[in-house]
Formats: sequence, structure tokens, C-alpha cells
Amino acid sequence: MAVTKTPVRTPLKALRGMEDILPADQPYWQALQAAAVRVAQLFGYRLMETPVLEMVEVFQRAVGEETDIVSKEMYIFEDRGGRTVALRPEGTAPVVRAYFAGSLDQGPQPARLFYLEPMYRYDRPQAGRYRQLHQFGLEAIGEASPYIDVEVIEVAWHWYELLGLRGISLQINSLGDAVCRPRFREALRQHYRPHLSEMCAECRQRFERNPLRLLDCKKESCEPLQAGAPSSLDFLCEPCSQAFAAVKEGLRTARIPFALNEHLVRGLDYYTRTVFEFWHSSLSGAQNALGAGGRYDGLAEEMGFKPVPGIGFALGLDRTLLVLKAQGSPPVAPEPVQILPAAAEQLRTAVQFARSLRAGGIATQVDYSQRSLKGKMRQATQALVVCLIGPDEEREGTVKVRDMRRSVEESVPRAEAPARVAHILALASRPA
Ligand code: HAM
Repeated sequence: MAVTKTPVRTPLKALRGMEDILPADQPYWQALQAAAVRVAQLFGYRLMETPVLEMVEVFQRAVGEETDIVSKEMYIFEDRGGRTVALRPEGTAPVVRAYFAGSLDQGPQPARLFYLEPMYRYDRPQAGRYRQLHQFGLEAIGEASPYIDVEVIEVAWHWYELLGLRGISLQINSLGDAVCRPRFREALRQHYRPHLSEMCAECRQRFERNPLRLLDCKKESCEPLQAGAPSSLDFLCEPCSQAFAAVKEGLRTARIPFALNEHLVRGLDYYTRTVFEFWHSSLSGAQNALGAGGRYDGLAEEMGFKPVPGIGFALGLDRTLLVLKAQGSPPVAPEPVQILPAAAEQLRTAVQFARSLRAGGIATQVDYSQRSLKGKMRQATQALVVCLIGPDEEREGTVKVRDMRRSVEESVPRAEAPARVAHILALASRPA
């Protein structure tokens, strides 16, 4: 009799650079996202979502055909209707497209928008560099004042502060505008021209098409040539120079420390005037940017719309999470307040009290189990606040509110307890 063999099936794998986010990491992701929503709303920015797929031209025209993102890293394919489409590699171009498509240009200016979305880049995967990456992005479209440059940087700074991230270095520069940048470009060509034969093939192309990117090459043949290269700041026209002075002054007033980085050019072509990056020393080499952004006053016109100024940033969630973990910081989203009734007799009061906390917007859980109070406490150690209700508290109309971080406990009248709990939570969410 013929023996039929079951075919061997190799287990299926995820695509390289596409990471699963498992339950153990969810508290971090939720904390990063919750903090983003909180700071964005604190400054009056509204959530925006755009499709994952766009016409490829949205990025070719906006980000620039010569950039690595567009020329090497975009996921492009033909859809069933024969259109060439791209998986979104970044959020600024789609948001500008949507700003006009959704008639936001007709509403109050600037439109203050933010997004929390995955992006796709066919990058070389390694720690901190993925093919599906996640960004907290924010765009202010329709305002040219340097005050908004400071505001946008301040939102990012608040986010890092709220997360308790230490050791961030803000790098800033100004790339000038259509009036003064051509002179800077020419000066760069003059600096590099005598070295053309030593430079890598890519930089020889950049020399012709996009000399600013010469300042970004990390290759051994080209990096040393950056020393002594001209600075964009020496070529700024009067309006660009005044705007940059106002941005620096605004940052000083906001007490946000920054380093002037005359060779910061960015990997996307749409930038004008202010550009910035947030660096962290724990991230290595090419991946040291935790987040970045800048002004893009010429972008709307480049995409075929009426000219409108804009500025924004995108902060990498994946890299921020790596740094938070390396720093040993626990996820910052507070665990729900735990209500522990000493015994079944106090359950009804505990449930009622939980409702009063939730009515005030405080996330709350009740322990319904029959475990001892000690056993219940053992399970509640992650919470920032624990509320105990025993026979005495039940009779006296009080609750024992325990601040778990400071190990301080006080008996509070039940009606006043929600305010007390809210106060402890507010103190705990401030960076140390
Ligand atoms: P970007 O510099 O291309 O800017 O990306 C912003 C941030 O996204 C980076 O600083 C980094 O943290 C993260 N990121 C980029 N690529 C990867 C990757 N392969 N893996 C993990 N994280 C990555 C933009 O995307 C612009 N749209 C920013 C902007 C908004 N400018 C004005 N408005």
C-alpha cells in the first residue's frame, strides 16, 4: 500500500522590518499615544487621518525624486486599476493634500493638525530602523510667523517631558528660502567642486541635482569634506535672518535649550527656513534622530495648490520606546486606580465609590475577589493610587487613599476623595 506523506509546511514568518507589537509592549505604546494626544490637545491641535495608500506623485513631487525616501525606500506598486500607488513613507505631504481636499484652507488659519500613524520605508532593518515605523506627527498649516515655529517645537518638547525622557538634544538650523538658497547652493558647489573625483557616485549626482544633501553623506570618502563647507546661515536674506533670530529668541524664552547645527539639512526636499531634529546619544549613528521637522513654505505650491506656509514635525514612536526602555522608565500611562473593599460587606460601597471616580474621568477598577486585603494589595502594586474601604471607612463615610509612589496614606471623607485622587494622579504625571 502506498504511504501518503503529509507535506511539510514551513512556518510562516513576518516580513523583515515589520514588527509585531505584543501585549507586553502595549502599555508603552498606549502611554506614548496618550501623551501625544494630551500635548497636541493642550495646544489646540486636532487629530487627522489620511489613507495608507496615495498616488505616487504625492511623494515624488513633495518629498523630492532625488531623496533616499522616494528614490530607494518607497513601497510602490500598480493597483488593479493600473494606477501607480505608494505606501505612505511620511505624513506631511498627505496632510497638505488633505488640507486642500477637505477645504481646511477655507477655515481658521493656521489649521493645527496631528496624526499617529504607521509609515512604510524600505530601509535596511536594524534596531531603531524598521520598514513599518510609527510617527507622532503634527502640522500647522497657514501661518508664517516664527512664533508658530517655536510653538511646534514646544509641543514636541512637552511630549518628551511628559514621558520623562532625559538627554534629548535639540538641533536647529535655517535653510533659507527661494530668494537666498540659490546663493548657498552655489557656494556649496564651489566648496565641493575641487573634490569631485574623490566623492562617492551618489554625491557626484547630488552635486548636480541637490547639493544641500552633500552635507548629509556619512561615507568615508565624503564626510571629511563637510569640514569647512559653507554654512547656510551666512547666506540668509534679511527676512529669513530675522525669522531665525525670532525663533532662537522664542526658544530661549520658552527655556528650551538648543544647539545651532549649521550643517543640519534633512533628508526631505520640501524644507525652507527653520529645520530641527531631536537627538539622543543612546541611539547610534544614522539612527540618532528621535524626531525631526521644519518649515515647508513652498510645499503646497510644489503639489499644485495655492501657496501656503506650513511647519511641522514627526517624532518616531519606535525609537522613543527604545530609549524609554533603555532608561528603565516604566510606561507612563497610569494603571487604573484600584478600589479594595476589605470584605464582601463593603463591595456595594466600593462599587458606588468607583462610579464617582469614573464620573470625574478617573480610570478605576474594583477588586471583587474574596482574597484577603493583603492579597488584594499584592495585586495592586502597579497602581498609582489605591483606595481601601474597610468596616470603619464604610461606617464613617470615608475612604483610605494611598499614594503608592510616596507610600503615604490618609483617611478622606468619601465625597472629597475624587479630588484627592485626581491631585495625586496629576502630581504623578509630572516629570521628575
Ligand atoms: P523624517 O526625519 O523622515 O521626517 O522622520 C521623522 C522621524 O521618524 C525620525 O526622526 C525617526 O525618529 C522616525 N523614523 C524615520 N525612519 C524610520 C525608520 N525606518 N524606522 C524607525 N523610525 C524611523 C518626516 O517624516 C517628516 N514628515 C517630518 C515633518 C513633519 N516635517 C514637517 N512636518
